[in-house]
Amino acid sequence: MPLIEVEGMHHDDVYKLLVGSVVPRPIAWLTTIDPENGRVNAAPFSCYTFCCSSPPMVGVTVGRGRVKDSTRNARNEGSFVLNVVNEDMIEPMHLSSTDFPPEISEPEHFNIELAPSKFIRTPRVKAAPISLECKLHEIIAFGDKDGSDFIVGQVIAFHINDDLYENGRINMKKLKPLARLGGPVYARLGEHITMPSVGPSTTAR
Ligand SMILES: Cc1cc2nc3c(=O)[nH]c(=O)nc-3n(C[C@H](O)[C@H](O)[C@H](O)COP(=O)(O)O)c2cc1C
Repeated sequence: MPLIEVEGMHHDDVYKLLVGSVVPRPIAWLTTIDPENGRVNAAPFSCYTFCCSSPPMVGVTVGRGRVKDSTRNARNEGSFVLNVVNEDMIEPMHLSSTDFPPEISEPEHFNIELAPSKFIRTPRVKAAPISLECKLHEIIAFGDKDGSDFIVGQVIAFHINDDLYENGRINMKKLKPLARLGGPVYARLGEHITMPSVGPSTTAR
């Protein structure tokens, strides 16, 4: 069993081990807007989670090897939309990760239909089963020049497709979330496993 000490490793090799260890990852398809010209950007990020539930906050890890449009727009506009990706959206989502210059809007280039948000100027992806309108809370820089920015947004509204929303919860079978493994490899959810609840609360945290 290899024991791999990180010190002295090239960051590309560390990255390969990280993305193979932290699996499966859900995908945040971020829409952002450039406040100077109103151009809308879309890009997927699988290194993400929610990081607070009161108030609700989500955090997305964006690499700093080059300044990505998503980071610059979220910082300058002060908002972003986190669109949840299901199996049906794999192709446009994957294509939108193309490393375009800022002048190219992925939604325009790939005909990704947008819809207005309710509380922020940044639009959402119309086909997304769930979209979270987020106000920028903080951007936390980690690491060195090849490190990452953790972009934290406070969720101010959930847009949820009618057919997924049941008694205040989201029906996972109908959602069909897409997961990312390494590189261009994705996965569907397999069989669901339900365990008997333990502890005093039935609300899983
Ligand atoms: C499914 C998927 C997940 C990705 N996850 C991340 C991620 O978590 N962090 C990151 O920095 N880049 C990630 N990328 C790469 C970005 O999408 C890519 O760098 C994109 O060009 C950034 O676009 P932007 O400059 O328009 O923001 C991912 C790509 C794909 C296809």
